[in-house]
Amino acid sequence: MKIVVIGGSGLIGSKLVIKLREHGHVAIAASPNSGVNTLTGEGLAEALQGASVVVDVSNSPSFEDAAVLKFFETSTRNLLTYEAAAGVGHHVALSVVGTERLSESGYFRAKIAQEKMIKSSSIPYSIVHATQFFEFLKSLADISFDGDKVRLPPVLFQPMAADDVASAVGMIAVGPPVNGTVEIGGPEQFRLDELVRRRLAALKDPREVIADPEALYSGAKVSLRTLVPDNTARLGKTRFETWLTQSAAQIPSRKVG
Ligand SMILES: NC(=O)c1ccc[n+]([C@@H]2O[C@H](COP(=O)([O-])OP(=O)(O)OC[C@H]3O[C@@H](n4cnc5c(N)ncnc54)[C@H](OP(=O)(O)O)[C@@H]3O)[C@@H](O)[C@H]2O)c1
Repeated sequence: MKIVVIGGSGLIGSKLVIKLREHGHVAIAASPNSGVNTLTGEGLAEALQGASVVVDVSNSPSFEDAAVLKFFETSTRNLLTYEAAAGVGHHVALSVVGTERLSESGYFRAKIAQEKMIKSSSIPYSIVHATQFFEFLKSLADISFDGDKVRLPPVLFQPMAADDVASAVGMIAVGPPVNGTVEIGGPEQFRLDELVRRRLAALKDPREVIADPEALYSGAKVSLRTLVPDNTARLGKTRFETWLTQSAAQIPSRKVG
């Protein structure tokens, strides 16, 4: 099966392309680096020729409210248009658990807009809602740092390894479209502040992490269960302590999402 991975050079995309190839699929890593740009349409018709599935794991280079909204609206509109012309039979997009509960955040308003366009298009689709990646914990500390302390709400949090995200997205991409949303998450629940504190300690980052019930998550007020999936979610197998001992944990991602 020919599967085009939009954002194929990114954290999830690069892992996904390898896994799909290992399973015998023709996986194309598509991103501006390889001449495929979903904002301008450049290279899209050529990349999508003969493709059965398109997996969108791209992300906006800017997280400023207007920029991120423009990114997901424009890229999704272009993708769906080119997919219809190429006869693509399955559009898979990676989004975030709790997106619909986080509309106070500019980033999540953009993800809501992305999902809405997918649901109202004619292309059969699967939306994958993943919890936060372990690789994202350091970035979460950075965006929650007020110059003195890292302030985070002590809400439930069930993150997962990027490798498990890529495996789950790959399984869904090669299956039939669900025309709905599938939730995936990590095998353990933590308090958000507790896990970021443990991640910073492992990185020997001296910043103090404070549990602050008023602190926002990505600009949005959250309650105890906003960030966790429901009990039908498919769970990854990698536990946090196991991931910490793996090499991926030694290279903190600069990415946010
Ligand atoms: N961070 C989290 O904890 C989390 C949790 C759940 C879901 N997600 C979602 O996961 C998705 C992927 O995140 P990630 O961290 O893997 O992303 P990432 O590492 O930041 O990679 C972003 C990718 O998007 C590509 N891209 C940027 N502009 C593009 C354009 N105009 N056309 C085509 N491709 C473009 C980049 O290509 P170049 O390398 O060529 O620039 C890169 O391959 C996001 O949609 C995010 O919402 C994230």
